[in-house]
Amino acid sequence: MKTPRLLIAAEVDRAARTILAADFKEDTQIKPCNDPRHGDYQSNVAMVYGKTLSRNPRELAAILVQSIGETNIFHLPEIAGPGFINFRLRTAFCTQAINEAFVQGRFGIEPVAKPQTVVFDYSGPNIAKEMHLGHIRSTILGDALSRVSRYLGHNVITDNHLGDWGTQFGKILVGYKQHGDPERLKSEPVLYLEELYQKIHAASMTDPTILDQARAELVKLQQGDRENLDLWSQFVDFSLVELNKIYKRLGVHFDYTLGESFFRDQLDGVVQELLDHGIARTSEGAICAFFDNDPQLQDKPFLIKKSDEGFLYGTTDLAALQYRIKEWKADRIVYVTDGRQQLHFQQLFAVAHKWGISTDLEHVWFGTILGEDKKPIKSREGKPIKLRELLDEAELRAQAIIDEKRPELPELQRREIARIVGIGALKYADLAQNRNLDYVFNWNKLIAFEGNTAPYLQNGYVRIQSIVRKRPPTDHLKGPITLVEDPEVALGKKMLEFGDVLELVAIENRPHFLCVYLYELATLFHKFYEFCPVLKSEGQIRLSRLALCAMVADCLKTGLLLLGIEVLEEM
Ligand code: ARG
Repeated sequence: MKTPRLLIAAEVDRAARTILAADFKEDTQIKPCNDPRHGDYQSNVAMVYGKTLSRNPRELAAILVQSIGETNIFHLPEIAGPGFINFRLRTAFCTQAINEAFVQGRFGIEPVAKPQTVVFDYSGPNIAKEMHLGHIRSTILGDALSRVSRYLGHNVITDNHLGDWGTQFGKILVGYKQHGDPERLKSEPVLYLEELYQKIHAASMTDPTILDQARAELVKLQQGDRENLDLWSQFVDFSLVELNKIYKRLGVHFDYTLGESFFRDQLDGVVQELLDHGIARTSEGAICAFFDNDPQLQDKPFLIKKSDEGFLYGTTDLAALQYRIKEWKADRIVYVTDGRQQLHFQQLFAVAHKWGISTDLEHVWFGTILGEDKKPIKSREGKPIKLRELLDEAELRAQAIIDEKRPELPELQRREIARIVGIGALKYADLAQNRNLDYVFNWNKLIAFEGNTAPYLQNGYVRIQSIVRKRPPTDHLKGPITLVEDPEVALGKKMLEFGDVLELVAIENRPHFLCVYLYELATLFHKFYEFCPVLKSEGQIRLSRLALCAMVADCLKTGLLLLGIEVLEEM
């Protein structure tokens, strides 16, 4: 079924086509009103067209409103401010729509008419380096975005583009050949490899011949030397075991983990193709793609082969891009990384464009997590915060709260609650931010049971479920729902926005819209519950309110799960 927003848009479009322009395309922006006193939805079409047609927007709005008139869906629209048109939904329409959505399931959201194949590239840590706080953003954002797209009906492929073929392996191989300790490699691979790397790196400062050794080991590896390849594949395999523990704790799953190494035999071909097409040329011994006609990238060539014959991060990305289009038939590829890689992706996409690739490519970038001092967050020792330790701390902090709140629960149950609350709180704190902004990390805020946090929403879900469970055994949850009181109507209207919100999240690649929505939904629920008795009301009213409760609970749960956050039945 169509959301109220889309139904209103159809009416506005019809009027705009007859009055403003026959070729009017559906570009009216219908948005929910910020202040419900002004109405439920708002259109700015009169202002946009007022400008292009040089006419008074309020006059245009009046003409449009006259043509739109009142309908079964909304009352006569009102004109506000410089020429906004405000719409207020009819309660009867909302009641009918909410029941339709309830019966249809999935909140009335139908799978997209034209599913796309969308590849999500996220997380992609470099092997032999512990995952730290910075990695959480890419992992969690990518996970949430891919879940939402999948829910909307797209064919989603997730791929962890692991950094498993970098120059760091030269030093690590030198280190391992000197101090190899198979036991440590097995028991704490990532920490150990990082240590080896740092040891050799430090040694190379005083003894430059070590760099030559490292380069030689790297070349041997790249040329397929058996011994080095065997060692390297052990490094990768053991590291993956460890990484997978983190992914498991985070509830993050990848359809593929191809990694950079997967493309190593395709790099020569990619470079050759770009040379043949005149996209790349040799410059000072290296090979670069140039963007001569692009004012922004004119002086920023994209290096794809170094003068020492080595390939680069970007070369691998080009090979991966080609592969995803050829093998997976990707219509859209979404890369989730740190904002510092913006230039890299601009260049990558510019090369792709010249290469004739029409797949929709998007770089979804995010800002930095800051400490209380507003500087990139560090541990007490001034080192990056390890993701593993961060997850431990989240669980421990949640555990302390749960132990205090629910001492009567069995230990095992308390631990499970703490896990779900702790990890959920951590994820939500990140997802609730507009991703382009830096934000200050604050344990107390993120784990609080009040405010826009995961524990608040998880708790809301638990409370609603417990109301529903306490109903008389003869009461069913089939409705029908009748929206009568104001808080009830407001809650119903909010639920009818769910489909719009998910679509917005998918279009803009911004999960925080969903967080805002869930927070508002939970808040509206609490208002409803304050004013509208559920279990204490009688007959049809009780059945209606119970069904409404069940629907809100389901919406909260679905929304949280789409963010990758689990819910509990009790906490
Ligand atoms: N390994 C990269 C890093 O740690 C992230 C990979 C992102 N994906 C990509 N296709 N470039 O920064």
